[in-house]
Amino acid sequence: MKKISHIGIAVADIHKSSILFSDILQTNYDLEEVPEEGVITSFFKIGETKIELVASNQENSAITKYLKRNNEGMHHIAFDVDDIKQEITRLKEKGIRILNEEPRIGSDNKLIIFLHPKDTNGVLIEICQKIKD
Ligand code: CO
Repeated sequence: MKKISHIGIAVADIHKSSILFSDILQTNYDLEEVPEEGVITSFFKIGETKIELVASNQENSAITKYLKRNNEGMHHIAFDVDDIKQEITRLKEKGIRILNEEPRIGSDNKLIIFLHPKDTNGVLIEICQKIKD
């Protein structure tokens, strides 16, 4: 894996939290809706990595379900790779389950998969590959 792409934080109110984090991090953000995932995200670039705020935009999204069971806060850690398909094969060979084996289009122009947290010490790990432009 190349580097940490971003750290994801689950929030209830994307607008309120974006202003808060903009104040904390002293930087602007890019707001993006991802209708396929039922989420709205906010990305803050901090040096070589990013902070992603993620909120639900849909009753049945994964974030809605998450926030019913957990408080707002750290949600996932994401790593950049060059070849997501190759990474899926490699991780499966290690016995690590993938939540969505067909990469989905996420926010920030990335193809994404998530690893099963039961196979990663409870940490939700996202793997992303930049979509060629
Ligand atoms: Co993410």
